[in-house]
Amino acid sequence: MILINENYTKLPGSYLFSDIARKVNEFKTAHPGATIIRLGIGDVTKPLPQASIEAMHKAVDEMADAATFRGYGPEQGYDFLVNTIVENDYKARGLDISADEVFVSDGSKSDTGNIGDILGLDNIVAITDPVYPVYVDTNVMAGRAGDLNENGKWSKIIYLPCIAENDFVPSLPAGKVDIIYLCYPNNPTGTTLTKEQLKIWVDYALKNKVLILFDSAYEAYITESDVPHSIYEIEGAKEVAIEFRSFSKTAGFTGTRCAYTVVPKALVGYTGSGEKVSLNKLWNRRHTTKFNGVPYIIQRAAEACYSVEGKKQVKETIDYYLNNAKIIREGLSTQGLKVYGGVNSPYIWVKTPDGMTSWGFFDYLLNELNVVGTPGVGFGPSGEGYLRLTAFGTLENTKEAVSRLRKISI
Ligand code: MLT
Repeated sequence: MILINENYTKLPGSYLFSDIARKVNEFKTAHPGATIIRLGIGDVTKPLPQASIEAMHKAVDEMADAATFRGYGPEQGYDFLVNTIVENDYKARGLDISADEVFVSDGSKSDTGNIGDILGLDNIVAITDPVYPVYVDTNVMAGRAGDLNENGKWSKIIYLPCIAENDFVPSLPAGKVDIIYLCYPNNPTGTTLTKEQLKIWVDYALKNKVLILFDSAYEAYITESDVPHSIYEIEGAKEVAIEFRSFSKTAGFTGTRCAYTVVPKALVGYTGSGEKVSLNKLWNRRHTTKFNGVPYIIQRAAEACYSVEGKKQVKETIDYYLNNAKIIREGLSTQGLKVYGGVNSPYIWVKTPDGMTSWGFFDYLLNELNVVGTPGVGFGPSGEGYLRLTAFGTLENTKEAVSRLRKISI
């Protein structure tokens, strides 16, 4: 008899974005003539930077020649990419991160999901609410979440509401917590923490021996100077934080897959008997055992994002999406809707018109305007009454979506 991991049976039927894709496909089948604009899942539409394309072509040719062919690479990433990351994303900002603290991977979704492998099951987990569903679902899978209550909350997870009433800034947890997920610029609300606000969390973590899992997948969208680009800009963060970064939203790698995670050597966890253990060592052990590295061709593409041309092209793409975000923000505000985010982020968080639930607004937009968003409540109970739109569409579709949204009667 095969016994299963019963934690999986506690999960809701399907992953949020799979659920939405199914709904949209059903609508499409029923209305084949409708022109649907998808501003739901945060998937990009612009191609990879030309510098990455050229690097990939060159790498493909290398793979065709026995003299330059590459088989298994280092699981943690090739030196050429790791050193480029360290130089550009850390040293250039005056941050002291070393190459053996960087682990190249196939995505921040995987890494934020897999990091739980090296953490004990009795840790108390806190999340900001609403939140990227991967953090919660993977803790349910591991058995850290308890049971789902009628109010949509897991019994063992600590929820830190981020709503308009608190300017989307989470309060420190009242009770004991061991692990906290922070994502800034935030998915889904599109809001940020200033350096001063993030420092409160780092100080709290230092004082209470809490691990911060800092998801920085949207770092490239930061436009304001008081928003930190890395948690390691805060003194002491190397003792309490793991940082996740991705090329997906930065350079269009959603289908190409490349990201990295920084696990500082100063970070320690404890065995049940109180012995200190390096988290860097544990993550290295996990990574080398369960992962065989990102393909050479893709790592060359990622490296090329940091060349002079690559940086310029990445910036053009980010500016393009930020312009979409502005169009959505301004268009919806003019319409009288309350909107948040979209300044340091590709996400716009919209308050639903009076009396409408998140799913009600989602259905209205899909059925009446053929625009797809993501219902806020799908990201957690505090997301009820909101809907997320992304700026990752084309300019044309974004403009068309906004002109359709102008038809909303509030
Ligand atoms: C989102 O829409 O929240 C993102 O696409 C999710 C992801 O990056 O996995």
